[in-house]
Amino acid sequence: MAYLDHAATTPMLPAAIAATTAELGRVGNPSSLHTPGRAARRVVEESREALAEGVGARPGEVVFTSGGTEADNLAVKGLYWSRVAADGRRRRVLVGAGEHHAVLDAAAWLSREQGAQVEPLPLDAVGRVRLDALAESLARDPGDVALVSVLWANNEVGTIQPVAEIVELAHAYGIPVHSDAVQAAGQLDVRFATSGLDALTLTGHKIGGPVGAGALVLRRDADVTPVLHGGGQERDVRSGTLDAAAYAGFAAALTEVVAGRADEAVRLAGLRDELVRRVLDAVPDAELNGDPDPAGRLPGNAHFSFPGCEGDSLLLLLDARDVFCSTGSACSAGVAEPSHVLLAMGASEERARGSLRFSLGHTSTEADVDALAEAIGPAVERASRAGVAAHRVS
Ligand SMILES: Cc1ncc(COP(=O)(O)O)c(C=O)c1O
Repeated sequence: MAYLDHAATTPMLPAAIAATTAELGRVGNPSSLHTPGRAARRVVEESREALAEGVGARPGEVVFTSGGTEADNLAVKGLYWSRVAADGRRRRVLVGAGEHHAVLDAAAWLSREQGAQVEPLPLDAVGRVRLDALAESLARDPGDVALVSVLWANNEVGTIQPVAEIVELAHAYGIPVHSDAVQAAGQLDVRFATSGLDALTLTGHKIGGPVGAGALVLRRDADVTPVLHGGGQERDVRSGTLDAAAYAGFAAALTEVVAGRADEAVRLAGLRDELVRRVLDAVPDAELNGDPDPAGRLPGNAHFSFPGCEGDSLLLLLDARDVFCSTGSACSAGVAEPSHVLLAMGASEERARGSLRFSLGHTSTEADVDALAEAIGPAVERASRAGVAAHRVS
């Protein structure tokens, strides 16, 4: 089989499986004072140190969460609430128009329920947040902005965002910036302190760790109102029993990934370029989405639109040939919605609907690219015939 959906989730690394399973067999709540509790606490703190080291942060800045979704919600809602509590005018939330739903929907909820004014930051044609639009939006009235949140790299089209410039623009007015680096951390040099960010989202299962472990890396002086209340763990920012086994696996994965990341990025980019070339050979009218400059996108990401095809039909035709990938569309009530990312990049609904993402990771090989190159031509041909037939009957 050719698994080309590493951006959805990637297999756990052997070191992460070993670290997690070693802890699963032990007992002890890391908050308990007895010996097993203290042993579990040691695992949590060692994992925190390893994670901090891996992303260039201080251990005290790592707040463990259940994953990327929770970390994004904590950043967006938590920063909003604390900024509004300090000054009731700060109700504008500036988010990239192509953010992951964990950010977009958290912001939309703040707008529906909490009086936030959410302003989507427009994207250019390759999916990058437009800095001129951000600068203009900030300058209009910096005193009413609660926060800025922008992906480090887009999860659909892989476009790398100008995080440093965004931080510079927002910090000129003292406005905090959050970035979701869930997709970036495994492939790019993500360093928290050097980025200048106030908050950064990570998750384990996109880098070879377990599902259900993530972190919000948060500056010590960043004020965040908790979303979860309870036992007061994680500097009272995120209550809930600490999951030593999951964090141990998460930390082991990040440590291994960071050690080999530069070489792996080169390997993946080579495979990805080959994949792009062979898909375009097999389907000459396929359109590559995202940044055509390989340096502007995640090394493991290739994203295409196939004119005249529905992404879902194509996905299933490829699935029947043991080639596994993703569509950009989200299914809502059984109807495929075109990808909001592609629409924000100015693509037509048809182009957005007929799109597929192929994402590579640590188990990817030339054989995966071969399998896709063989399967994609016939699959597109069948999907476009089905598209024409559907048009005729409707
Ligand atoms: C960019 C991005 N943010 C957040 C998430 C959610 O992370 P998790 O699955 O750990 O909740 C994902 C996963 O699809 C993602 O790609």
